[in-house]
Amino acid sequence: MPEHLDQPERPRRLRASAGIRAMLAETVLEARHLIQPIFVTDGESPEPIASLPGVSRVPLSSLGTKCAELLLLGIRGVALFPKVDPSRKTAEGAEALNPSNLALRAVREVKAKSPGTVVFADIALDPYTTHGHDGVLNAAGTDVDNDRTVEALVKMSLLTAQAGADFVAPSDMMDGRVKAIRSGLDSSGRHGTGILAYSAKYASAFYGPFRDAVGSARKPGEAPISKAGYQMDPANRREAARETALDAAEGADILMVKPAGPYLDVIRDLRNATTLPVAAYQVSGEYAALHAAAEKGWLDLRAARDESLLGIRRAGADLILTYFAEAWARDRAAR
Ligand code: PBG
Repeated sequence: MPEHLDQPERPRRLRASAGIRAMLAETVLEARHLIQPIFVTDGESPEPIASLPGVSRVPLSSLGTKCAELLLLGIRGVALFPKVDPSRKTAEGAEALNPSNLALRAVREVKAKSPGTVVFADIALDPYTTHGHDGVLNAAGTDVDNDRTVEALVKMSLLTAQAGADFVAPSDMMDGRVKAIRSGLDSSGRHGTGILAYSAKYASAFYGPFRDAVGSARKPGEAPISKAGYQMDPANRREAARETALDAAEGADILMVKPAGPYLDVIRDLRNATTLPVAAYQVSGEYAALHAAAEKGWLDLRAARDESLLGIRRAGADLILTYFAEAWARDRAAR
């Protein structure tokens, strides 16, 4: 008889078989928790995005079919982002308020062809501005003008609600925009349109591939864009509590933290502080980094993907925006 430790506590008993482990898993991830971000193009055919392997811009003509397919896989929510033709961009981003712009046509298309899909429509000016900022600039061109930008976002939200979006999703980080959007929607009778607020959105280095996808990136040789005057400092945790509390008080229906993986503490804080649903955005750079490492043979893509998503759920997110949504749901359906 080998000697045994005097060890009554043996946590490994609860990990002894696949059956026990499955029964005791504390966190679950299901397709209904995932929202697929979709880039929409006016072009004829899908346009692959080099920095987002496996993701293509979807032509407007096949957007309805795409959303219907996602729905069959259990993915109920999509977040739409237009790739606006450069010829339509101006410093003020007026195309955002063109009632037949690509983003609004996309919302109408999804609602016509796949009415069961829940549409989250992005509210910010960056797809429409020549400089790529999320709002209009002040006279000196040195900063985004908060209040003039909010005015544009309210109008944009109204058009988006009229097009049929279930949620408007302001991603701009201007002060007071949730309150202004809520009152703008309500005074036009749009009480039923929800607001998913990008509440704690950080000035992150992980947005690069997204800016390629919507065409808001700086050209090679130009100084990289800094949004640090409105997006949050990655050093800050208390400030996230302030921003999220403000958005809740201003009438947001769902509060979001972005990016997700590097900000799990912020997601957990928010989960503990609010009774509202919490969303997290696993952003383009998080997706691209896992793909790049897997391409080199350094990570198992599926395992790393699943672990990253479970971590975000474990931190407290009810919903996750992720470019992995479709692939994850296909793998789940195949099992
Ligand atoms: C801008 C916006 C960004 C993302 C979503 N909306 C980028 C930015 O702030 O420049 C990034 C999403 C991603 O990286 O996947 N309104």
